[in-house]
Amino acid sequence: MLHREHWPLAIPWKQLSFEHRQESTISEKPIALDAYEALAEAYAARVDTKPHNAYYERPATLSLLPEVAGKRVLAAGCGPGVYAEWLADHGAEVVALDVSPKMVHLAKQRLGAKARVVQADLAQPLHFADGSFDLVLSALALDYVRDWDQVFREFHRVLRRPGHLVFSVGHPLADYLLYPEANYFDTELVHYTWKGFGTPVRMPFYRRPLGAVINPLLQAGFVLERFLEPLPTEQFRQQDPERYEKLCREPGFLNIRAVKPAHLPPPRPT
Ligand SMILES: C[S@@+](CC[C@H](N)C(=O)[O-])C[C@H]1O[C@@H](n2cnc3c(N)ncnc32)[C@H](O)[C@@H]1O
Repeated sequence: MLHREHWPLAIPWKQLSFEHRQESTISEKPIALDAYEALAEAYAARVDTKPHNAYYERPATLSLLPEVAGKRVLAAGCGPGVYAEWLADHGAEVVALDVSPKMVHLAKQRLGAKARVVQADLAQPLHFADGSFDLVLSALALDYVRDWDQVFREFHRVLRRPGHLVFSVGHPLADYLLYPEANYFDTELVHYTWKGFGTPVRMPFYRRPLGAVINPLLQAGFVLERFLEPLPTEQFRQQDPERYEKLCREPGFLNIRAVKPAHLPPPRPT
């Protein structure tokens, strides 16, 4: 039976809580909206230098990008605009979107005329024309969207041929290890208390198995080009040797590059 979940409260990292899977839950309000509204300023203040972002996730994601100069790029789940700024500074025409009004405000402040920033929910159809982007970049935002069939279909739709999708998400193994009582094969809503941005914030997200990352991508028509399980950089080690050692043994993020090929694939034999 369908039921509505209660909108999550922004509650004052790492204390874990597990919630049973919510196979048939309808959530109209984006699950992480309140949490990101609560930590937007703190996130914006730290994201340029915080080791997990600056010396782990970002170098890996940037290493997957195709040439961006002269390309039209969608930064999906842009947060305060670090990637959007990098893209604009490297010659791209950037449209950035985020569901959090505070993040949109902060991104506008940071970007000025460098990019267009809009508020939008990645769980909903995108208000962009078919084939209007050369690249979609989505860093650490898809963990908050349950239905990846829809979001990858939408990314595929708005991309030209050829067009690239580069994204990073929590590594399925890392997310599973947080909830050892869970069933690895489920996609489920869980919560994690973030303590790395000042006041702790209880952050909802979806954990899912590796197959639920890759299959919706392929079904949407993308071809997988690169699959990166990154290692933290030397700068990370200098800033946080303890977590560096852990991330050298256990993955934290997964970074993927996929392409909407230049030509339609041949029809499958019947
Ligand atoms: C971890 S932050 C990453 C921000 C940015 N990509 C970066 O790497 O700095 C996740 C972002 O995803 C946004 N987000 C969460 N759910 C979303 C949704 N349903 N639609 C669009 N953005 C969403 C949040 O507001 C937040 O800004």
